[in-house]
Amino acid sequence: MSNQNEFHVPKDFYWGAATSAFQVEGGIEGTDWEKAAQEGRVPEIGRACDHYNRYEADFDIAKALGHNAHRFSIEWARIEPEEGRWDHEEVEHYRKVINALKIRGLRPYTTLWHFTLPLWFSETGGFERKDAPEIFARYAGFIARELGADLEGISTINEPGVFASLGWLKGAWPPFKRFSMIDWFGATYSGHTEKTKVEVSFGTLFTYIKVLHNLIKAHNQAYDAIKTERPDMVVSIVKHTIAFDANWNPLNKLKAAVASYFWTDYFMDRVYKKCDQIGVNYYHYKKFGGPYVEKKTDMGWDFSPEGIYLALKIMSKYKKPLFVSEAGLADHDDSDRAEYITKQVESTLRALRDGVDVRGHMYWSLLDNYELAFGYEKRFGLIEIDYNTLERKIRPSAWEYKKLIERHTGREDNHGEILL
Ligand code: BGC
Repeated sequence: MSNQNEFHVPKDFYWGAATSAFQVEGGIEGTDWEKAAQEGRVPEIGRACDHYNRYEADFDIAKALGHNAHRFSIEWARIEPEEGRWDHEEVEHYRKVINALKIRGLRPYTTLWHFTLPLWFSETGGFERKDAPEIFARYAGFIARELGADLEGISTINEPGVFASLGWLKGAWPPFKRFSMIDWFGATYSGHTEKTKVEVSFGTLFTYIKVLHNLIKAHNQAYDAIKTERPDMVVSIVKHTIAFDANWNPLNKLKAAVASYFWTDYFMDRVYKKCDQIGVNYYHYKKFGGPYVEKKTDMGWDFSPEGIYLALKIMSKYKKPLFVSEAGLADHDDSDRAEYITKQVESTLRALRDGVDVRGHMYWSLLDNYELAFGYEKRFGLIEIDYNTLERKIRPSAWEYKKLIERHTGREDNHGEILL
C-alpha cells in the first residue's frame, strides 16, 4: 500500500450519477417491457419521471450537486422502431440530451442498451436469435456514427448476466422463462412479476446459456462496429459484479472462487479483449462463512458499501481501466444514503490508492425511477420524485455526495489529495 499522504486523485477523475432511459424517460412505446406491463406481468410504467421532456432541468440539478459527468442510456426502440428503420427525430433528441450535458460541464457517457428491447426484436426471439449479435452491432455502429463525436464513452450492454438470468433462469423479466430447478438455489422472483404467466421448464437452462453466448458475441461485434466508425471511442461493457469473499475456511474460499467464476469471469474472460474500459456495477457483497449482515437496504439487500473495494479488485485482474458505472441503494426516507455513499466513495478511493485504475464514480441513481419488476416503490434517487406532480426534491444525502466530490476532486493546486 502506498503512503496515503503521497496519493492524489487523478485530476480527470469524474463524478456523477447514472440513469437508464426506460426507467426515467416515460412515453417509450414498442418494447418488451411495455408489452409485459400491458399484459399485467410487471407493474405499470406510465410517464415515469418524464425525464424525456425534463432532462434539462434534471441536468441543472446534477450540475448544482457538483457532478461533472453523467451516465445515461439510449432507448433502442426509439432509434430503431422497426427492424432496419432509423428514427432520425429520436437521434436528434439524444443529440440535444448530449449537448445539454456538455453545456453544463457534465461529461456524457452512454449505454446503448439497458435491459429493454424493441418489440420487433423480442417478438422474433430477441437474444435467442442466431443473428442477434449482428442486429445489435448494426445499431451500435449507427449510434457511434450519428452521436459518437460528442460522447466521452460508449458502453455496449448493461449487466448481461442480470438480463439473462432474470429472463431465462428466474423468469422474473421478459421473456419470463423459469428454470424448473431454480428453487433449489433459493431463487426468488425479484419483484411483483405475475407468477401465473411464467413459463417453467428445464430446457430454459440451455436457452439461457445460448443467450449468454449471444450477448458475448453481441458485445464483441458491437465493439468492432463502433471502432469502425470511431477508432478513438472508449468502448466498455457494464458488468454487475458481486464481491464474493470467504472466511479462513478453504471450502468457503473454493465456493467464493466458483461463484465468482460463474457470475463474473465466465462472461468477462470472453469479452475483456474488446473492452477499452470496464464499468463495474456494485450492489452485493457475499462472504461465504459469514458474518451475517443485519442491516438491509429497502431492497432487502445487505448494507455493505465497503464491498465495492473487493468488486473493483476482482475486476482489476483484466488490466483495463475501470469506472464505477453504478452503485447505490434504495432508501425511501434517506436515512442511510449519506453513510452508504460516503463508505462507497471512500472504498472506491481506497482501491484507487491501492493501485486499481479507477477513472470515475457514478451513483445509482440521479432520480427515483421505475425499478423494473418492483415498479415505483423503491427509491434509489439522489433526487426524490413525486409521481403525482412530477415535482423534484433534492434529498439531503445528495448534498453530502456533493461535499465528498468537492473534497476529493482533483484540482490544479492540490491534485485532490485524498483524506481518508
Ligand atoms: C441496474 C439498474 C437497477 C439497479 C437497482 C442495476 O442492476 O442496472 O437498472 O435499477 O440495479 O436494482
